[in-house]
Amino acid sequence: MPDDSSAAIRPTRWEQAGVGRRGYGEKFAGLIRAGKDVEGEARLADALAPRAATILDAGSGMGRVGAALQRRGHRVIGVDLDEELVAQSRSTYPELPVVQARLDHLAPEVLHERGFPTAYDLIVVVGNVMILLADGTEQLVLRRLRALLVPGGRILVGFHTNAWPANSRTYHPDDFVADARAAGLDLEQRFASYDLLPYVAGTDYVVTVLRRSGESASPSGATEAV
Ligand SMILES: C[S@@+](CC[C@H](N)C(=O)[O-])C[C@H]1O[C@@H](n2cnc3c(N)ncnc32)[C@H](O)[C@@H]1O
Repeated sequence: MPDDSSAAIRPTRWEQAGVGRRGYGEKFAGLIRAGKDVEGEARLADALAPRAATILDAGSGMGRVGAALQRRGHRVIGVDLDEELVAQSRSTYPELPVVQARLDHLAPEVLHERGFPTAYDLIVVVGNVMILLADGTEQLVLRRLRALLVPGGRILVGFHTNAWPANSRTYHPDDFVADARAAGLDLEQRFASYDLLPYVAGTDYVVTVLRRSGESASPSGATEAV
């Protein structure tokens, strides 16, 4: 069961980055204005999800991933602690509901009392969120997210392994998998990019798909294949 350890009241690495973190929202607003592709994470997430899935965008930032998933027909709820990014997300993507909350405090009741689902087919934790949490809250956040999965649901996580961006932690992909296991989640797949380049030790980005421990992967049968 998730518990509120003292680590969960420490400021996140994101907050501690101060003004350095401001570049993110401006950068993606500029890329989108320039017509650049910022949907790689959403394309992989879409492939992992059933059609018309219920998806939680954990650490949704300015909303680009959640909005791209909405355009693909999914019901998406964003969660982020950053007041300015939540405001940017709501102004850029008014149709994307966003809860301003910390992931280490995210209990089903927080979503329920706002009228949002408490069980998700897929949870996306992309864009370095895992390396910008408060120190020592990684397992707690993973346990909180695990508690929000439907049976058979999966978590898609992506982060840099080389201490980028500023103020992020170095997180060895194997240490991350160990934290996931401790949180009741098994490694299902691991890649070096959202277009599925193979994972090799030392890669500077890692994309991981997690599933609740003990659940076996079985084809949904929702898609016809030959
Ligand atoms: C680099 S941004 C990425 C945002 C988005 N996922 C994307 O890919 O565009 C990292 C985000 O993680 C959020 N974040 C970090 N720690 C968090 C926590 N404990 N709870 C909620 N959000 C958190 C920050 O507020 C920030 O919006």
